[in-house]
Amino acid sequence: MRIYSASEVCRVHVELTTRCNAACPMCPRTRAGGEKNPNLPLAELSLADFQRMFPPELLRRLKQFLFCGNYGDAMVARDTLPICEYLRRENPKLRLKLVTNGSGREAEFWAALAKLVTTVTFSIDGLYETNALYRRRTSWPRVMAAVQAYLGAGGRAEWDFLVFRHNEHQVAEAEALAKQLGFAKFNLKRSQRFLVEGQAVERFPVLRAGGGVAYSLELPQAPDYQNSGFVKLSSLRERGQSYQEYLLSTRIACKAVRDEQVYLSGTGHLFPCCWLGQIYDSWPSPMAAEIRARIAELSGGLASLDLRQHSFHEIIDGPFFQQLVVRGWSPSAPDGRLSACGRMCGEIDTHSRQWESSGSAPAS
Ligand SMILES: C[S@@+](CC[C@H](N)C(=O)[O-])C[C@H]1O[C@@H](n2cnc3c(N)ncnc32)[C@H](O)[C@@H]1O
Ligand code: SF4
Ligand code: SF4
Repeated sequence: MRIYSASEVCRVHVELTTRCNAACPMCPRTRAGGEKNPNLPLAELSLADFQRMFPPELLRRLKQFLFCGNYGDAMVARDTLPICEYLRRENPKLRLKLVTNGSGREAEFWAALAKLVTTVTFSIDGLYETNALYRRRTSWPRVMAAVQAYLGAGGRAEWDFLVFRHNEHQVAEAEALAKQLGFAKFNLKRSQRFLVEGQAVERFPVLRAGGGVAYSLELPQAPDYQNSGFVKLSSLRERGQSYQEYLLSTRIACKAVRDEQVYLSGTGHLFPCCWLGQIYDSWPSPMAAEIRARIAELSGGLASLDLRQHSFHEIIDGPFFQQLVVRGWSPSAPDGRLSACGRMCGEIDTHSRQWESSGSAPAS
């Protein structure tokens, strides 16, 4: 299997900043919602970075920018609006999408954003009394003010709702509110992160910054709200295969290749996807260690992937993408195998199943 060449890439997923106002427990920017990830550098991309990294001739042939990321929230970045203005001006046909918890910035920011982007996806996991159980440190009135300012200015929005035990009774009410407010779509999301070593766990402890368990997140009860990939992963045991063996042997169908997409981290480094960009682990992680080990094989190390120092073409057509990542997919080269690729793009696709209904009607 081969990976794309730079001239084939037309979508860019960007983390504008590694900063965020929130502390969602399953997000690697904190340790389970408590203390900060001690390995995470606080970094941000500026308008000047964008102008250098994406000159007009490159922008003219790209189709989409998605501002999401691994560790931060695009709403928090200083240059979000000037960057969107620059992209719009240089290529009016670009699709610009942004994903956010929505709990911040003033109404003027959201109204201006509405004139620039194609879609904002608001990650709102519940209603006023429950959203902050997952979206820790967010404020419901601030989220609603942002939504109303953005929609009021004519923006197109989608609502992503992560289902947990504590909010599953609010799905219908949230969907009705989404319609009433003017959201174009309401997407239920069945998290794949209740997963430890290939086993579905039912409770995920949320930690306090000072230590100790504050409370636990629980899997939703309705089978339709659970990620059906879990069931398949549990069946590995019956086949006598461990999760690690599965990760090392499963056939890979690379989503970055499928989507002709690359990932630019808030530190300015280019990866094929956000999953390989997850190199700052909040807890020691063998998957992140494997990626860092591949990067260490490059003569210039991590700096070889820095889009402030090298061009888009140089990095994508260079040895990390073209040799080390591709080697990471090979079942016959177990030393270079990347478990993250097996987890995200293997035969049991828990990632895509987040948006899939199993077809069984949930208990009301
Ligand atoms: C790190 S966030 C960056 C974007 C933005 N800060 C946000 O949270 O919407 C990237 C994506 O991960 C999602 N996410 C966070 N926690 C999740 C979980 N437990 N399961 C699945 N997706 C999750 C977010 O909703 C968002 O779509
Ligand atoms: S809002 Fe997004 S970036 Fe911020 S803590 Fe939550 S998942 Fe992470
Ligand atoms: S995790 Fe690996 S296989 Fe999947 S998109 Fe990223 S590089 Fe491709």
